[in-house]
Amino acid sequence: MIVPITLDCSATLCYDIMIDTLPKLTFDTKVAIITNPTVAAYHLDALLLRVGAKRVEVIEVPDGESYKTLRTVESVLDQLFERQFDRKSLLIAFGGGVIGDMTGFAAALYQRGIDFIQIPTTLLSQVDASVGGKTGVNNRYGKNLIGAFHQPRAVYIDPAFLRTLPRREFAAGVAEMIKMAVMFDATYFDFLESADLDDTYTLKEAIRRSVELKAEVVSQDEREAGIRAVLNYGHTFAHVIENETQYTTYLHGEAVAIGMVMANALAVRLGLLSVSEAQRVVDLLVRYALPVTYLINDANDFYTHFFLDKKSANDKIKFILPQGIGNYQVRDDLDASVVMSVLMQFGDD
Ligand SMILES: NC(=O)c1ccc[n+]([C@@H]2O[C@H](COP(=O)([O-])OP(=O)(O)OC[C@H]3O[C@@H](n4cnc5c(N)ncnc54)[C@H](O)[C@@H]3O)[C@@H](O)[C@H]2O)c1
Ligand SMILES: [Zn+2]
Repeated sequence: MIVPITLDCSATLCYDIMIDTLPKLTFDTKVAIITNPTVAAYHLDALLLRVGAKRVEVIEVPDGESYKTLRTVESVLDQLFERQFDRKSLLIAFGGGVIGDMTGFAAALYQRGIDFIQIPTTLLSQVDASVGGKTGVNNRYGKNLIGAFHQPRAVYIDPAFLRTLPRREFAAGVAEMIKMAVMFDATYFDFLESADLDDTYTLKEAIRRSVELKAEVVSQDEREAGIRAVLNYGHTFAHVIENETQYTTYLHGEAVAIGMVMANALAVRLGLLSVSEAQRVVDLLVRYALPVTYLINDANDFYTHFFLDKKSANDKIKFILPQGIGNYQVRDDLDASVVMSVLMQFGDD
């Protein structure tokens, strides 16, 4: 199945997202597959059988978010120069979101921009990171603060790669799918409630809907001037949690799961969401063993951390809240006291 993504078609920003068994890919240019040792060990042989090109190179970078840096990107660029890649050469991102973000960024930089293709291998990167053209790296000031918008030429999503993915990583991807459902599509939420994602066909359908929804949002708002911010539901809280726990306790999707529960509590407080709707979200998260509780030791401190988020422009915190299941409301007019009273609910008494 094919999900077309239509950005500004006058520029070269139209591309397709294929969700199926990876087809044979043939290029009349040089190609570099950027991957890491973990993904390579499981799947590189299978990929190499499917890629034909003038020359196929493999560039491995170390595995892990801590290597998502300018230094690693520079080492990729160096290797491309050493191998005399030119402006027509192409990069293939083969891995999770870390590989995708860095490969896209390297492609944006190399000789002012070359093409790249995404072949995401984690659920999170299949439903989220590979779609939308945000690329970049982290630095000591924070995550994803350096980067570029650079759309891939195509995205190939093959759920078969997920068979080797650890269960926790899989669930982290499900959290982002639940996010899409709560924000945009009540029918999709119902579907997820009854879906068996261990079934390949069901999983493919579930991925398709998430990708479609994200593609729609990105098509409307490539540079995050408006609706794209809704994708940050749960994230305002999650970023504080990730920060407080030094990015070691929770996977990103797990922090988002807790963040959604907190956003929902705020939505309930404002009368936007019923208690039973909030409970449905919790139940769905729990089904995937995602965390739904977090102890806020100091609500004041937690609140001030919101302002470190780059998404909180002009000293106003933008809360993305569900309005029932399948709709959203963006609020930047909330009294600190209202938010604080909700944060206190997550305290220890
Ligand atoms: N660009 C965007 O719009 C966007 C959106 C969301 C997240 N992101 C970024 O994505 C990153 C997170 O992505 P992620 O969750 O995929 O993490 P990840 O890339 O670190 O992958 C998670 C782990 O799974 C391993 N792995 C990958 N595929 C595997 C497979 N098929 N089998 C077994 N192991 C496999 C990886 O090597 C890694 O150890 C973050 O850096 C985040 O900032 C970007
Ligand atoms: Zn996220």
